[in-house]
Amino acid sequence: MIFFHEAKKLFHLQGDSYSYFMQVRNGILTHLYWGSRLPDEDVSALIPEVQAYASFDNEYNRLTFEVPTQEKGYYAQRALNVLNHDGDDVLSLRYVSHEIFHGKKALTGLPSAYAEDDADTLVITLEDPLTHVRVHLNYTVYTGFDVLCRSLQVENAGEKDIELKNVQEASVFLPKGEYDILHLKGSHCRERNALRSQLPRGFFSLDSRRGASGHENNPFLAVLEHNADETRGQVYAMTHVYSGSFRLSTDVSIDDRVSMMIGMHPDVFSWHLAPGESFQSPEALLVYSGEGLGGMSQRFHRFIRKRICRGYWRDLPRPILVNNWEATYFGFNEEKLLAIAEKGAKIGCELFVMDDGWFGKRDSDNCSLGDWVVDKKKLPGGLKPLGEKLNALGMRFGIWFEPEMISPDSDLYRAHPDWCLHVDGRERTEARQQLILDMGRKEVQDYLIDALSKVLESANITYVKWDMNRNMTEGFSCVLPSERRMESQHRYMLGLYRVLDEITSRFPEVLFESCSGGGGRFDCGMLYYMPQTWTSDDTDAFERIGIQWGTSMVYPASAMGAHVSVVPNHQTMRITPFETRCNVALGGNFGFELDLSKLSDEDTEKAKAAVRTVKELRTVLQQGTFSRLIDPTRHDNLASWQFVSEDEKQVVVCLYQRRVKPNMQPERVYLQNLIPDARYRNQETGETYSGAALMHIGLNVPSTWTDYDSWVFRFERV
Ligand code: GLA
Repeated sequence: MIFFHEAKKLFHLQGDSYSYFMQVRNGILTHLYWGSRLPDEDVSALIPEVQAYASFDNEYNRLTFEVPTQEKGYYAQRALNVLNHDGDDVLSLRYVSHEIFHGKKALTGLPSAYAEDDADTLVITLEDPLTHVRVHLNYTVYTGFDVLCRSLQVENAGEKDIELKNVQEASVFLPKGEYDILHLKGSHCRERNALRSQLPRGFFSLDSRRGASGHENNPFLAVLEHNADETRGQVYAMTHVYSGSFRLSTDVSIDDRVSMMIGMHPDVFSWHLAPGESFQSPEALLVYSGEGLGGMSQRFHRFIRKRICRGYWRDLPRPILVNNWEATYFGFNEEKLLAIAEKGAKIGCELFVMDDGWFGKRDSDNCSLGDWVVDKKKLPGGLKPLGEKLNALGMRFGIWFEPEMISPDSDLYRAHPDWCLHVDGRERTEARQQLILDMGRKEVQDYLIDALSKVLESANITYVKWDMNRNMTEGFSCVLPSERRMESQHRYMLGLYRVLDEITSRFPEVLFESCSGGGGRFDCGMLYYMPQTWTSDDTDAFERIGIQWGTSMVYPASAMGAHVSVVPNHQTMRITPFETRCNVALGGNFGFELDLSKLSDEDTEKAKAAVRTVKELRTVLQQGTFSRLIDPTRHDNLASWQFVSEDEKQVVVCLYQRRVKPNMQPERVYLQNLIPDARYRNQETGETYSGAALMHIGLNVPSTWTDYDSWVFRFERV
């Protein structure tokens, strides 16, 4: 619901469990409150206008601007910096008008959350009286989903050119408090490890300048009460529906005022706006949870599954796949692929994914990106007969692409050496021996749409792994005029989104999975087009627990690709039991990534059993409510998480133990989110317990003599 109190010019955005108040005070749109849901009433007198303490520091520095800019005595972080024609960036935004409507408009050129008759939107227009820069602020409130969407457009309604230097699409002030921050940090093979620390004083930021959301920092930040845990305490969290460079920041002023922002990274962005032109920011997703981090994640998960992910596969059980990358790398032919697929079919897999190496002359990673034509040396008959043979085995056919890239050793590069991002006169820095296409150029977009469509039409392909294996260097488009060169990174994203929009609409029943050297571009922008992402190139089961744990802070299990691989593991050389590798992979979209044709009889039986379990449970796992039970970043030996089906009838608890320790105190796992008075039957032992007992007494961690052991407990409500 969105309320407007005309006399007080007070806005109240009321979600199912949160409220957000703003008021126009002396023409300035002022943030009043974001937190637990309140009845609709006039609360403005509870938050009096700030007074200047002394003439040295006027009241402007204490105002809680909804869009902080450079004006009068405001010295804190700014959400918007607009260089006007005279070269200064003073911007006094004042309320002009607003509009409230049912529904939600898609953002032009960018992915965004959508509504299904369950949202209302408020658009507030502010304007600077001198330059006539107008800012339209969009707020969407849902019924049934506790996420507040925010974005803004900057319109040049003046008569002179302006330059956007900094655009943060959401900025909020939090109540004074003792806070921690939680964010997801990493690198290639170590993505999204949850890191919690004290909220630093002063300015703190985490970001990406890479031209992708990146491995280092996921575009997510939570500010939480120091005492908050998985089930208790207040949490304020942000992410956005964007896949490019970004900045998330907090600022704690000298007088303990706390603010938080998300937006474009100002170091790699600026945007030229001629009179009459507008700029659309990405969309921020804001979550308030009064029920700790678990409550925050559950709000994100449902929303991402139902209002970011779209299309044919949104609610369908995801196929169990076998991917040949770690099985063969580049060294395969049709016979080898079919041998793996045949065994996969016997085990119960449903989809075979042919990874990198099927095109051009790509026998290693030094060539052919851009030449999306099948390598007849490896696949003499081409893709169509391979697809038919897979289909005859009962398997769907999936294929890998890395569309945004170009190898210097490729026919595409020889024909179009200027199609890559570069700066004339400077070395074109290669990474993994490849360069990046200038996705901002229409001819490049059209080439890709055409080349990929031809491949997808040439065979019965129903899955695509869309990879992106390096970040930008000299990330500039040589066709943009100098005053627009700094727009290159964002124009790249807009171009990529156009290609994704076109390809996913042309092939609506194809399941797309995004990837970027594993999980280097795991964000809501990508999930809008592709409902799942390859979580990490690290397939070691115990490393994966931390990665999947961190990823689950924001993203649902249905968004995470998780595969069983060989031991010794290729990234860590660690040896873990086959069952444990399966038990970790069932925390995401389950698959295999090893040479199944070489699997021992014993492991084959275990693989069959795991596939049977996943088929029985995947609706619970992919669409259920996820709770984190034992935190591997805090417990030195255990990790545990839990899924409850949407109808609250089935409960699955996964428990992992790192190593055997002698003479241990018995440990317990406390379940969450059960109905206290309901009874649940352990499907293995037949014993039944109340939800209250399972939550408060918990389960005993079984004793074991095996390192890297794991258990899956299944309960049914009776
Ligand atoms: C990336 C992906 C891998 C694999 C390789 C192929 O690293 O994350 O899964 O597809 O590329 O080159």
